[in-house]
Amino acid sequence: MAYSHLLSTRDGVVERLTLNRPEVRNAFNEHVIAELTDWAARTREAAVRHDIRATVIAGTGKVFCAGADVTWMSKTVNYSEEENLRDAMAMSRMFAAIDDLPLAVIGRIQGAALGGGAGLAAVCDIVVAEETALFGFTETKLGILPAVISPFALAKIGQAAARELFLTGARFSARRAKEIGLVHEVVSDAELDATVDRYVKEILTAGPEAVAAAKALIPAVWGRPIADAMPATAAAIAARRVSAEGQEGLRAFLEKRKPAWIEDTKATEDTKG
Ligand code: COA
Repeated sequence: MAYSHLLSTRDGVVERLTLNRPEVRNAFNEHVIAELTDWAARTREAAVRHDIRATVIAGTGKVFCAGADVTWMSKTVNYSEEENLRDAMAMSRMFAAIDDLPLAVIGRIQGAALGGGAGLAAVCDIVVAEETALFGFTETKLGILPAVISPFALAKIGQAAARELFLTGARFSARRAKEIGLVHEVVSDAELDATVDRYVKEILTAGPEAVAAAKALIPAVWGRPIADAMPATAAAIAARRVSAEGQEGLRAFLEKRKPAWIEDTKATEDTKG
């Protein structure tokens, strides 16, 4: 699929995905949703092969993402309930596909992340925001609600913040977003790219299969009683210990050398010159 609204570039094992509709502040309509869903499927395949080990999601222009395209949503008034359901399911699948990617997804937020844009931040594993960026689950201000993004947003911010922010639709600062767990680091505009790159470098020192397994573990364990979770957690660590990657990591530590996956990354960077 050729993309009209996304830019995707690769730098060794690092992918950068940029939402590219700056004229509407990177709002997403049905075409963007289809493209993002396709992109997530391709990235998943590349991540499984370890061709991509970290992805940065960013937005062109002043604003990261203004959420769902209001012009597109206003057209849905003429859709049947069935058509609206189909549309909403497509959007749900897009968020779920990004949420579930078996690698680290890093969000680079400037300007604003509103509505579905805040949802996009919620499906990133690590979020770095520029200090003047505004966040908001603004849907109720438009007479709708943050339904599709709610599972992802709730997993990050919890019920207490959601009760306030989902209901009021109020915009809030990057610092507040950090307090409630939607953002991990708030930095100045000048520090934004360097901070994102620092997280990328950090991830590349971790084993790629271990990163994917650690990510999968979180939703598998979250909210379960310990006794229920125990078989899954024991199976997860047992599988990693006997894996080639796990053995390599443990051996490398004991032999006081870098594990092969760090050498692999270096080789990719060296080949690129
Ligand atoms: N859907 C469609 N178009 C949007 C949009 C959205 N979600 N958000 C912004 N735009 C459009 C504006 O209509 C405007 O179009 P125009 O140039 O034809 O008038 C253009 O993008 C620029 O918007 P503007 O408000 O002038 O930009 P800004 O940089 O001053 O502010 C925002 C950016 C994101 C803070 C502001 O546009 C905004 O609050 N958008 C609404 C976000 C929202 O409520 N999203 C939730 C949807 S559920």
